[in-house]
Amino acid sequence: MANLETNYLGLSLGNPIIISSSGLTNSIEKIIKLEQYGAGAVVLKSLFEEQIKIDAGLPIYSFQKTFQESLDYINNYFTNNSVQDYLSLIKKAKATVKIPIIASINCYSAENWIDFTKKIQAAGADALELNVFYIPTDKDFSSNDYEQIYLDLAVKVKTSIGIPFTIKLGNHFTNLPFLADQLFYRGASGLTLFNRGYEPDIDINYCKFKAAGVLSSPTDIRPTLHWIGIVSSQLENFDIAASTGVHSGEDVIKLLLAGAKAVQVCSAIYKNGPQYITTLVSDLATWMERNNYKTIDEFRGSINYKPSANRSMYERLLFMRYFTDIQ
Ligand SMILES: Cc1cc2nc3c(=O)[nH]c(=O)nc-3n(C[C@H](O)[C@H](O)[C@H](O)COP(=O)(O)O)c2cc1C
Repeated sequence: MANLETNYLGLSLGNPIIISSSGLTNSIEKIIKLEQYGAGAVVLKSLFEEQIKIDAGLPIYSFQKTFQESLDYINNYFTNNSVQDYLSLIKKAKATVKIPIIASINCYSAENWIDFTKKIQAAGADALELNVFYIPTDKDFSSNDYEQIYLDLAVKVKTSIGIPFTIKLGNHFTNLPFLADQLFYRGASGLTLFNRGYEPDIDINYCKFKAAGVLSSPTDIRPTLHWIGIVSSQLENFDIAASTGVHSGEDVIKLLLAGAKAVQVCSAIYKNGPQYITTLVSDLATWMERNNYKTIDEFRGSINYKPSANRSMYERLLFMRYFTDIQ
């Protein structure tokens, strides 16, 4: 029988499948069910930086009038989802289930809300995932200016809490391995690659923006697979959790081969229900047994970018072959 145990952020997981931060993890009843179906850990639904600031009486940004509808929605959300409820959920989960509980904060700044992370630690969370959601849209700011927000955040959180923390990033960075290295150096224990931010679409009948579908599809795994292979090959002690586009047991295996320490799943559970965790776990176990792997560490990262001394040129060659193969 294959041993699926995984060490992620210094935590011991029965298997590498983590249920991502989302509505799937926002109540104790759901968390119990996820554990029963075999989840290795859960990341709780994010608390927003804005919620923490409002709760602490700190100012948040002011919306322009055109965003009034969204602001009303958010205000309503905040009144229905208090910070105290969040801390109680952490405490309840820790008292009820055995799997690690990873708290999550969705933030956009390295400002004065960070002290709040101490309360998350005191409530008993095993680790914290910081979901940094910041879209660079200002021509007067350089990529360095934007990346500095992430670096400042890592330094401040590291000095605030002793539990491990990880940073969930979007997939648009100029040089992700460099940023990852800088975050590692500042005390982050890992990265979650990638977040799936708000994606807009355009309604051509009303000529206005509308939200694109919120759930991922299986092809969305490609950037996840690509970048985990690149980053994990250079930062072997940095724990990387894969996120986005994981829809099958085969996807889980691919991401572990590429170097992920754990694999987060969200849309596939929304589509197939929590019982689908059992399928993902048993597909992984069956594949390991078929290939005579007793532990995940025996194959994890074996297909990353290590063999290539000049990764950029290797990628360029692959790219040229890719497009010349089709006439
Ligand atoms: C309905 C829904 C709610 C989500 N809420 C959060 C959240 O609160 N915090 C967060 O970090 N990610 C959130 N996400 C993003 C997921 O955690 C995940 O990163 C994303 O869906 C990509 O993974 P997938 O391809 O497995 O769906 C949410 C996703 C969905 C579909």
